Amino acid sequence: MQRVRLGQTDLEVSRICFGCWQMSPRFWGTIPLEPWRAALRLARERGVNFIDTADAYGDGFAEEQLGEFLAREKCREEFVIATKFYWDITREPRVPNTARDYILRACESSLRRLRIEYIDLYQVHAWDPLLRPEEVADAFGQLRREGKVRWFGVSNWNDAQMRMGRRHFEISTLQPCYSLLRRDAEAREFPFCLEHGIGTLVYSPLERGLLTERPRPERFGDHRDNDPWFQRAVYDRIRQGVTELKPIAQRHGLSIAQLAVRWVLTHPAVTCAIVGIKSAEHLESILPAADGVLPSADWHEAANVMGQARREAERFLAGMR
Ligand SMILES: NC(=O)c1ccc[n+]([C@@H]2O[C@H](COP(=O)([O-])OP(=O)(O)OC[C@H]3O[C@@H](n4cnc5c(N)ncnc54)[C@H](OP(=O)(O)O)[C@@H]3O)[C@@H](O)[C@H]2O)c1
Repeated sequence: MQRVRLGQTDLEVSRICFGCWQMSPRFWGTIPLEPWRAALRLARERGVNFIDTADAYGDGFAEEQLGEFLAREKCREEFVIATKFYWDITREPRVPNTARDYILRACESSLRRLRIEYIDLYQVHAWDPLLRPEEVADAFGQLRREGKVRWFGVSNWNDAQMRMGRRHFEISTLQPCYSLLRRDAEAREFPFCLEHGIGTLVYSPLERGLLTERPRPERFGDHRDNDPWFQRAVYDRIRQGVTELKPIAQRHGLSIAQLAVRWVLTHPAVTCAIVGIKSAEHLESILPAADGVLPSADWHEAANVMGQARREAERFLAGMR
């Protein structure tokens, strides 16, 4: 698997990043662990060296499981580990906390759960309106001096928030949502990242399974059962668009899921696509997406097809309200 430099860091990462949100029972129900571990083993074999997790995924569960795998297989050095802090997972209900002392504590807890000495990329999970940049800078400075974190990034921040943050601390990466259905990052965040050499790891490139050919189950048994985009009538409109993507995918010998991931990887501001993985089959079947980029005409055609599908789905949703 081809490696690329992550922004201006010294991290060399695979363009497919292994996403661990699926290890959050709160959102995804109970995930069988053996197939997930098999996926991690496959990642090692195939050179997928970038893993994205968060303390919030399963309130520590995802980090613990990853830590157990890394320790048991003695393979920490083979991976670039990205995790996140933001929600105080020790309280219910969870609330954001970006205070200096909280960040230091959260990092210690992540290191303990992950059973590692240092985190390669430590990300602020989302924007906190109460964030005090001097405190974040103080905590980040200490974590770097102590060798506990190598690089820092943010997730779900807009360009103005990054501009402000960068006056106080280094922001090496942005983790935004980006897919054929959600392209908001193109307008301001991507130009900002390109201008400042910020690496991007984009999430939900498959729109949690909408941008695939897998038939809709009667019940998902997870958060998708309550998500308007996954209700039958809306889902069917999106899937109509997916059907229209098929000729484009076929021109490149790709499945729909591979096309969706290659589409995000084609954008010049995108460094990596984080794909949510539950099994080796998930990972295996997405890998070919990383072998190249789409020609511009096909990229635009796919964008137009799914833009239309999204508008129809939104019209339908608006009518339901
Ligand atoms: N920073 C943030 O706020 C944030 C938010 C969301 C996600 N993320 C990160 O980004 C990662 C990916 O995002 P995501 O989980 O929202 O969405 P995603 O990658 O778009 O979708 C993942 C889902 O797609 C299906 N899938 C995966 N591989 C497939 C394949 N090869 N063929 C067909 N279907 C496949 C699976 O659905 P089934 O379950 O139906 O098998 C899986 O649960 C997360 O794991 C997490 O690390 C970050």
